[in-house]
Amino acid sequence: MKILVTGGTGYVGSHTTVLLIQEGYEVVILDNLCNSKVEVLDGIEKITGVRPEFYNLDLLNYEDVNKIFDKHVIEGVVHFANLKAVGESVRMPLLYYNNNITGTINLLQIMKKNNVKNIIFSSSATVYGINNTSPLVEAMPLCATNPYGTTKIIIENILQDLYASDDAWSVVSLRYFNPIGAHESAILGENPNGAPSNLLPYIALVATEKLDHLSVFGGDYDTADGTGVRDYVHIMDLARGHIKALEYVLANRGVEAINLGTGNGTSVLEVIAAFEKASGKKVEYKICPRREGDVATSFADVAKAKKILGWEATKDINDMCMDLWKFVTKADTAENYY
Ligand code: NAD
Ligand code: UD1
Repeated sequence: MKILVTGGTGYVGSHTTVLLIQEGYEVVILDNLCNSKVEVLDGIEKITGVRPEFYNLDLLNYEDVNKIFDKHVIEGVVHFANLKAVGESVRMPLLYYNNNITGTINLLQIMKKNNVKNIIFSSSATVYGINNTSPLVEAMPLCATNPYGTTKIIIENILQDLYASDDAWSVVSLRYFNPIGAHESAILGENPNGAPSNLLPYIALVATEKLDHLSVFGGDYDTADGTGVRDYVHIMDLARGHIKALEYVLANRGVEAINLGTGNGTSVLEVIAAFEKASGKKVEYKICPRREGDVATSFADVAKAKKILGWEATKDINDMCMDLWKFVTKADTAENYY
């Protein structure tokens, strides 16, 4: 069965592609490489023995994306291809609205035209905004605090409206919490184009002595140790969640939003301690002012994922730090890690 993976050379897309191939799906990848490298395909091939067919294409290019559907009988789409940097989205809202929303509308129009109505969409815990209290439940009201988050809410709404207009659609929006770590082989991991803004890549840069310290954003939150608490989820657990979601989407019709997290919160200082244990390196840090827009605590209610998808996370923060460390210290990653 052929599955189109948009954004398949990106971080979540590449790890998910590995599992899709290992589960027997035939994967076609579309990615414009704006935040990933074509060498990722070598990694996928090395792990699975299969090189997925690849199209270096932008979702904004309707005609050429449509041709993929002429050429292949696609049964479902896993749609990762969005821009995802929160700060950049504040500076360049039109770029984000155009890329994420217009790109998704193009994809959905092409899918509809070709009678392909099964889709998994990468949403984010960011849709819960700053006023909901953790554990965050799918039914809570959504609110965005930046253009990136707004694009996720708008796309979730578009998907709901699409299903309301035609109940042949089958849609799952997966709300990821904080994916981190790397494939157990250390062949694949997170290696985007440009500087990181998330916590774990920064910690890795400090541990590998490329930066001298980590700035901890806020030490006075209402949390056990005063630092921000998040729900970190291993990238391979997250990837497995997509396999479950795809099985669900192919067997049902409807529209669902489902959290993918562990259900546990870990503070910045706890992450630092876990990373020091995994790497044997000291992670120097300084407590700094809070980062604008951050919430104190964010973790998932995971009951819906368990009930509907039969999925739950299996790996803990130590596994995540160990796999990330293995990836960043592997010789060929170390040379060009960020
Ligand atoms: P990523 O940047 O590594 O992967 C996204 C891929 O999509 C990249 O390879 C990029 O080149 C491609 N892309 C972007 N716009 C495109 C376009 N118009 N046409 C074709 N390709 C395009 O990001 P990721 O971490 O793998 O995230 C995947 C999805 O999950 C995104 O939608 C992101 O918003 C969402 N998400 C990620 C996280 C996270 O922490 N990684 C958390 C919540 C949600
Ligand atoms: C970020 C995104 C969010 C996205 C989520 C999952 C922002 C504002 N939000 O949130 O939209 O859904 O990732 O990918 O970027 N921290 C530091 N020092 C650093 C970096 C981070 O102390 O250098 C702290 C943060 O304050 C936070 C925690 O580490 O408490 C995690 O931060 P980060 O990795 O950026 O993820 P989120 O804040 O959850």
